[in-house]
Amino acid sequence: MNINQVVEIRSKTLCYFGVGALQKVTDICAYLKSTGVKSVLVTTDEIVYKVTGVWEVLEPALKKAGINYALYTGVVPNPTVDGIDEAVALGKKAGAGAVIGIGGGSAIDTGKSAAVLLHPDFAKYNARDLYLFKFDATKAVPIIAINTTHGTGTEVDRFAVASIPELEYKPALAVDCLYPQFAIDDPAIMRGLPVGQTMYTAVDALNHVVEAATSLATNPYVVMTAVETGRLVAKYLPQAVAHPDDLTARYYLLYASMIGGICFDNGLLHYTHAMEHPLSGIKPNLPHGLGLGMILPAVIKVIYPACPEILASIFASYVPGLKGVAGEAEMCAKGVEQWLFNVGVTEKLADFGYTEKDLENATRLTFETPSLSFLLSVAPVKATEKIVRNIYMESLKPMCK
Ligand SMILES: [Fe+2]
Repeated sequence: MNINQVVEIRSKTLCYFGVGALQKVTDICAYLKSTGVKSVLVTTDEIVYKVTGVWEVLEPALKKAGINYALYTGVVPNPTVDGIDEAVALGKKAGAGAVIGIGGGSAIDTGKSAAVLLHPDFAKYNARDLYLFKFDATKAVPIIAINTTHGTGTEVDRFAVASIPELEYKPALAVDCLYPQFAIDDPAIMRGLPVGQTMYTAVDALNHVVEAATSLATNPYVVMTAVETGRLVAKYLPQAVAHPDDLTARYYLLYASMIGGICFDNGLLHYTHAMEHPLSGIKPNLPHGLGLGMILPAVIKVIYPACPEILASIFASYVPGLKGVAGEAEMCAKGVEQWLFNVGVTEKLADFGYTEKDLENATRLTFETPSLSFLLSVAPVKATEKIVRNIYMESLKPMCK
């Protein structure tokens, strides 16, 4: 495969994929202008839009097309509803008729959420209303996602996430109006990703497909994309950690996360994501992918007996010798934990300061947070409070020791 060829990958989103895809923003800006967009809201953080080189290309493209912009740089990891409201206020002032998110999940999801609230039909609502499901989010202004990490898949899916700090809630939206119209997936942008983010975002992608392929909503397409995502992460994550400049490794990790996004858009998510969201609701400095990696082994132990063949296929490169039978649950769980440790994801919940009391709180939040109980309802093993609590407790310390 020629990684320097920019290709079009179509789902509900038109994704420009490949080294150099960033240059496509010129065409996208011209298209926006042709549809009557005079101003856009750009959502990003203080650093990423500059260090990745995205702004160097995007700003001239906007100018060339004659599109004004409002630049919101206040996005933080695990973004909050307050940040979204700030971005929306800027966008409204500028009369933004479209949103461009530059970053990973936090920046793109902030942009997606703002796109709903910038739609004239929803002008009276705020981000709390949106994430507490006080209205049906059925429309949004056009969304363009310029992706800078290989994990979330949000550039091609209908999901968005934000935290409501005072409630410790981190709900997820899944509505069709959140599909970006265009996405840019350019591996060259990701060469500068720090090692931590390289690992955590790839672990996020792996979790997406593990959950989607084993949910009650799975289908053969979901399983196929899940197995390929698993294979690519196993092959290329160690390579990207060892050689951050390796564009081939970045290309395939990005491809894995993109098809992983389409995979879970179809198959949905269950235990690991429903249980990670409360963890980062309680401690917002927990990277999403790290939280997922901490609890994944204990989740595998619970769900493996319900879908051993699928999980054996996904983890074939992680745990040699899996046969796809129910009795391998613990072997697979421990093998995946060891693989995570070997690649550099070595922390467990206790290392990050979680106590048993926190995990009691997290158990409550897993069932109480809007939208998370829906995710649990598609888990392959019926989610009970006892099972959720046990997964948390078992994730406090390494399973392997
Ligand atoms: Fe995720």
